[in-house]
Amino acid sequence: MSMAVKTATRLTLARRPRRLRRTEAIRGLVRETRLTPDCFVYPLFVCEGHGVRREVGSMPGVYQLSVDEAVKEAAAAKAEGIPAVILFGLPASKDANGTLAADPEAPVQAAVRALKREVPDLVVMTDVCLCEYTSHGHCGILDGEEIVNDVTVAHLVQAALSHAVAGADFVAPSDMMDGRVGAIRQALDERGFERVGILSYAAKYCSAFYGPFREAADSAPQFGDRRSHQMDPANVEEALREVEIDIAEGADIVMVKPALPYLDVIAKVKARFGQPTAAYHVSGEYAMLKAAEANGWIDGPRAMLESLTAIRRAGADIIVTYFARDAARLL
Ligand code: PBG
Repeated sequence: MSMAVKTATRLTLARRPRRLRRTEAIRGLVRETRLTPDCFVYPLFVCEGHGVRREVGSMPGVYQLSVDEAVKEAAAAKAEGIPAVILFGLPASKDANGTLAADPEAPVQAAVRALKREVPDLVVMTDVCLCEYTSHGHCGILDGEEIVNDVTVAHLVQAALSHAVAGADFVAPSDMMDGRVGAIRQALDERGFERVGILSYAAKYCSAFYGPFREAADSAPQFGDRRSHQMDPANVEEALREVEIDIAEGADIVMVKPALPYLDVIAKVKARFGQPTAAYHVSGEYAMLKAAEANGWIDGPRAMLESLTAIRRAGADIIVTYFARDAARLL
């Protein structure tokens, strides 16, 4: 201790918060938020073919995978402690109605069957939307330039049913059409799939952070944007209404998306409804961290763990993240 620190210079303090930060063991004892791999859902992009493993340019470490490669990737993730995957599909062809979204032989349905066979304990979730399957890249059926809500819901129901038939544990509608959760719930129940759950993208914002995903899933709209159905980033009361509706319609898990720019929304949804709550740490959030790391501008692993911890601290029980495997290996 330096000579400058004399008894007289000591403060008399009842509370010294630094006592709880002195060693890693003490910090561990008082840590409020635990980040563990068992809260991760790992997204996979499934394409046609065999032995295909094509890296997505804007998402280093993320690949378009044929079914056999998706099985390997999911098995490796499971071995690292990740309990669940969510599947996105790249169909062989696209048309105006997104017909292949409900095709039993399309990549997602084939991958569900293979995963349930090869990695039995893995929780298999499927994204339900038409944007990867339509030639125009919009999330539904068009009348002119407008997405027709109720007709689109009928198509989404068929896609969700085809995923359930393949063996999906959860279907995850990401389209933001009105009434889709209730329609999917009813159709699942009528066909005897009452055990299949619904993870609803309940508060999905119209976000610039989905850019890299649209490269990964080849789903960029060919004209216009998604403002007629995805939420205005300025709104939070509306997010609570969306979540309330989806819970009433039968959603088992509600999701907020993106994650980091919407931590306030996650916190409010969790506090208000107390339901299992997920957050989607989206492609743009991943790409930004990877790009900054590649440039040597940030410590990538630390920034990753800090981001994921923040999402948990805000109230998310479940995090859908491309970092699932990177993070699981560090935890
Ligand atoms: C499909 C869908 C999207 C994402 C998840 N499901 C794209 C979109 O809405 O345009 C984005 C995921 C991400 O950016 O990581 N509708």
